Amino acid sequence: MPVPGPGYSITVRVEAPPSAGAAGDLTTAVGRAGGVVTAFDVVESHADRMVVDISCNALSEEHSRSVTVALDALAGVRVRKVSDRTFLLHLGGKLEVSAKVAVRNREDLSRIYTPGVARVCLAIAANPEDARRLTIKRNTVAVVTDGSAVLGLGNLGPAAALPVMEGKAALFKRFAGVDAWPVCLDTQDPEEIIRTVQLIAPAYGGINLEDIAAPRCFEIEARLRELLDVPVFHDDQHGTAVVVLAALRNALRVVGKEITACRVVICGVGAAGSAIIRLLLPLRPADVVAVDVGGIVHAGRPDLDANLARVAALTNADGRTGSLVDAVRGADVFIGVSAPDLLAGADVATMAPDAIVFALANPDPEIDPLVAQRYAAVVATGRSDYPNQINNVLAFPGVFRGLLDAGAKEITDQMLVAAATAIADVVAVDNLNPSFIVPSVFDAAVAPAVADAVRRAARHEMA
Ligand SMILES: NC(=O)c1ccc[n+]([C@@H]2O[C@H](COP(=O)([O-])OP(=O)(O)OC[C@H]3O[C@@H](n4cnc5c(N)ncnc54)[C@H](O)[C@@H]3O)[C@@H](O)[C@H]2O)c1
Repeated sequence: MPVPGPGYSITVRVEAPPSAGAAGDLTTAVGRAGGVVTAFDVVESHADRMVVDISCNALSEEHSRSVTVALDALAGVRVRKVSDRTFLLHLGGKLEVSAKVAVRNREDLSRIYTPGVARVCLAIAANPEDARRLTIKRNTVAVVTDGSAVLGLGNLGPAAALPVMEGKAALFKRFAGVDAWPVCLDTQDPEEIIRTVQLIAPAYGGINLEDIAAPRCFEIEARLRELLDVPVFHDDQHGTAVVVLAALRNALRVVGKEITACRVVICGVGAAGSAIIRLLLPLRPADVVAVDVGGIVHAGRPDLDANLARVAALTNADGRTGSLVDAVRGADVFIGVSAPDLLAGADVATMAPDAIVFALANPDPEIDPLVAQRYAAVVATGRSDYPNQINNVLAFPGVFRGLLDAGAKEITDQMLVAAATAIADVVAVDNLNPSFIVPSVFDAAVAPAVADAVRRAARHEMA
């Protein structure tokens, strides 16, 4: 059951009587309406009244309104203003540029800007590799989107995608000290996107593609990887695949199975599912069976596009056909990156003993995790309100930190596997259990471990 959370958090400014019981009445009213009080601040106090900011978490915008109505209905209480704390946090955006150098006097000016800077420009013109040493390039990543697949919300366009890209940039900085900047493009034409990213690439040490819909994301990424001499990484694909692989590695340790003995069902063959299959196959699972909205992916299906045809050729060794329910029967692992409510407990019950279920569709998983837990040995979701959250934040900051530090010109699957192993290994074997297969996103050991693994893999490949 969903619980009130900080995503729907409001601060209600109310005038209330200065009585001893007023505070209790206010917090009780919020509680009765199903809200959770997180702060209570008296902002004004007078002989005849007090003004209070009462902050609380709710379930939805509609629920916040009913909490406010409950407060307003109290005798002697008047709601003055309601602030949505999430919107307050976004006022004016979430990023700014700050200079690393002080411009205190004419001398500083002459070195930071003209005439001094000219010599640095000439040095880079003579040796373009010096851009990584003498400019922001070595620590800067473009977070590029066309706004075509914003979170689970769909095609909202580039402006509406900006809050997500700003948030992503904030996470890059917070977790790995990477300076990332949103680049929201007003086009959804692959050729225009490719050309634009190519044109802006000189200032960046890496390109993080974000929220670009499948299947066009595959071509855009592949072409940019060919064209650019900096790593190109589509987080919705590879960030997800890295964290899923890490979680799977530890889940298999928990149940004592080898991947080579496991049949893995991947439901969803879009951005995330395709990348998961790509990282998984070299580990040689007994079989991988992919399922999408059209059922089990097999070579005989008439509706296969290029991506699905490639998947069909590499998976489903036994030539299975049918539905998702058919696919999971007897399977050891289910990984869902598709849509809500596709499986029932009875379906999980048909899986092999000690089944592993990753139901990652957001915000509503393929199966209610509480139901899945009754039949599976390990359950993970994409949600923060259940154990084992598969969160890309575990991967992308450290991945780019490692790539930038190594001066990598490309990113390879070997680097991604190294990142996955590093994430998995942050959880000590003694700490592993069915409810703890991935470290917390706030575990300070994660990003440095991932960065170190990627840096080593990159340097090894560049040697
Ligand atoms: N860390 C995470 O938890 C995480 C990471 C990435 C994606 N996701 C979630 O995974 C889902 C897919 O993301 P994506 O970017 O790959 O999307 P996508 O649109 O690229 O792909 C969706 C895939 O799901 C399939 N699908 C849709 N309805 C289906 C159904 N009824 N039965 C079987 N398959 C069905 C589609 O055919 C398609 O292959 C989303 O809900 C997303 O939020 C979670």
